[in-house]
Amino acid sequence: MSGVPTEVLSTQSKAEFDRAVRRAAEVLQRDEVVAVPTETVYGLAANALSSVAVKKIFQIKGRPSTNPLIVHVASWSMVEQCCLHWDGAAEQLARTFWPGPLTIVVKKSNLIPDEVTAGGETVALRWPSHPIMQALIQTAGFPLAAPSANRSNALSPTQAAHVLSQLDGRIPLIIDGGHSAVGIESTVVDLVRRPARILRPGMIHLGDLERACETLSWADSDSPQDTDEEGLQRSPGQLKLHYSPRARLKILTWSDASDLEHQLRRLDLPMDSSSVLSYQNIPNGDRFLRVAVIPDDAEAYARALFSELHVCDEMGSEYILVEAPPEGPEWNGVWDRLRRAEAD
Ligand code: TXA
Ligand code: MG
Repeated sequence: MSGVPTEVLSTQSKAEFDRAVRRAAEVLQRDEVVAVPTETVYGLAANALSSVAVKKIFQIKGRPSTNPLIVHVASWSMVEQCCLHWDGAAEQLARTFWPGPLTIVVKKSNLIPDEVTAGGETVALRWPSHPIMQALIQTAGFPLAAPSANRSNALSPTQAAHVLSQLDGRIPLIIDGGHSAVGIESTVVDLVRRPARILRPGMIHLGDLERACETLSWADSDSPQDTDEEGLQRSPGQLKLHYSPRARLKILTWSDASDLEHQLRRLDLPMDSSSVLSYQNIPNGDRFLRVAVIPDDAEAYARALFSELHVCDEMGSEYILVEAPPEGPEWNGVWDRLRRAEAD
């Protein structure tokens, strides 16, 4: 596929929106892949009911075939089509959070090819809220398998330009739907095993889930670990190094600029080739490659995070020094992504 020019279609006007959706649906109907905006991050989409199409996603991303994909739906009849069991708890969570950044793992139907689920009996379903994604699923007429539209283990894209920089020449089409509003990937919950469990924390946190379905009990908190207290694997995709910028990332706490400088000297970390992501104690920009300020609010922070990391990489930062954000349930998704980016 390398060398094929990648077309980027904008969706600013109603006419452009309709044209982009029509073009993308045609490409998908030919079993090709398209990069599409969603409210969480951009996705690399293909017909979830076609193993030929789905295999191309793995190939383009360089993703191991053992890591299953999320299937995106846009109607209740598609939900029914994709799964074997849909119980009261699934219904309750879906009615509360869909369309939106929640992915629900249930038993799969025979229509879902093995490639999508990595040979497993379960399927991860999400009904996204982004209008382009909804229009595209409806126009194409089938559910869309879509991982984040980055090369395996690289940073997830929250803008069309991020997708282009990683996949230019590898895919025929990117739809530009602006900046992703949520900014980090969906919360993934497993309802196959009971008690239910959070496989990947996101902006919908355990408290939100508990409030939405009071009869459902949960295995553990959505603490950002790969295994729960019994050592069970949480999610196939969560064990690998993920969400990594090219630069080395370090999470630090500092009281003021001189404290930060002191710590960096002690850790033998450079200043002039490091970028800083701060939200509270903002050091003077002169000594660093870049100093960015992220808002002190979990939703705004998540929305900005990957974009800021992308800029740090583009500027050639050797290190990204992240001021440790606040703790609390609404910060779990952010902490999970930062810890994964720090792991090396
Ligand atoms: O927000 C999102 O979820 C984005 C947008 C594009 O929808 N998608 C996304 O996909 O983040 P991906 O492939 O990058 O991450 C999907 C996660 C992986 O950790 C994968 O292992 C897990 O969901 N997953 C998928 N199917 C699963 C299944 N049947 N059982 C358990 N985990 C599953
Ligand atoms: Mg991903």
